[in-house]
Amino acid sequence: MLKVNNLKKVFKLSKKQMALGKTKDKYKNAVNGIDFTANPGQIFGLLGPNGAGKTTTLRCLATLIKPTEGEIFFDNINALKNEEQVRKKICFLTNELKLDEFFTPNYTINYFGSLYGLTKEQIQKKKEILFKRFEIDSYQETKIGELSTGMKQKLSIAVSLVHDPEIIIFDEPTNGLDIVTARSVTDYLVELKNKGKTVIISTHIMSVAQHLCDEIAIIIDGKIKINGSLNHILQSTGKENLEDAFFELYVQSKGGKE
Ligand SMILES: Nc1ncnc2c1ncn2[C@@H]1O[C@H](COP(=O)(O)OP(=O)(O)O)[C@@H](O)[C@H]1O
Ligand SMILES: [Mg+2]
Repeated sequence: MLKVNNLKKVFKLSKKQMALGKTKDKYKNAVNGIDFTANPGQIFGLLGPNGAGKTTTLRCLATLIKPTEGEIFFDNINALKNEEQVRKKICFLTNELKLDEFFTPNYTINYFGSLYGLTKEQIQKKKEILFKRFEIDSYQETKIGELSTGMKQKLSIAVSLVHDPEIIIFDEPTNGLDIVTARSVTDYLVELKNKGKTVIISTHIMSVAQHLCDEIAIIIDGKIKINGSLNHILQSTGKENLEDAFFELYVQSKGGKE
């Protein structure tokens, strides 16, 4: 289980960032005090537009960056005080992480497996299952640089799961994937959830949130506007679909100006 209390992340902007963002503010409140719980056997989705603070939230959970304020607990372990312990329990996947193009899938998974302290036998066993599941078998000795985008993404997933994490954190899981690969990724997330794992994803795609997530938190400008099942969100907003519910909350949060 994952519990997040009052998470905040403030970035200090460089002059270049201020110029690019056309702002005079030296600080950006990327995540502005969010709370949520994600449970085992469920897919929890952070749904929000670009710049809402999804990736920043997930990077805090993955212990890649330190929050400015707030607490994160994985099964009652304080993530901010026990980073090493937490990293063994979780995996984090984002499109921004790139595998080394010069290595092969076989070498890469062996390498990451050994980083997690797994034995050769343990790695071998896991590799067989994962490579079969993601149809990487016949590309084991092909340089990653020569693989298709979809195959690279599937390999990233396989590699991230080598240590059998309990908590799977996935930033925009279907972004940039063709429809068949996207489907195999979302199907696998459902399999993981059915095994009792805690799955946390971010997305800006309504249909992904609607079809995949058991619980949805709509995040806008670093704040969670509503959090619950699809039914709860539709009932609370009086709308018939997630997209209408989202726009209702979006317009409200922008003060009705847009
Ligand atoms: N390292 C950083 N330095 C400064 N600003 C950042 C940094 N990372 C993200 N931001 C800003 O924080 C906000 C939230 O970004 P992000 O978490 O990437 O949003 P999302 O993933 O929802 O699109 C954006 O305005 C973004 O420009
Ligand atoms: Mg993002």
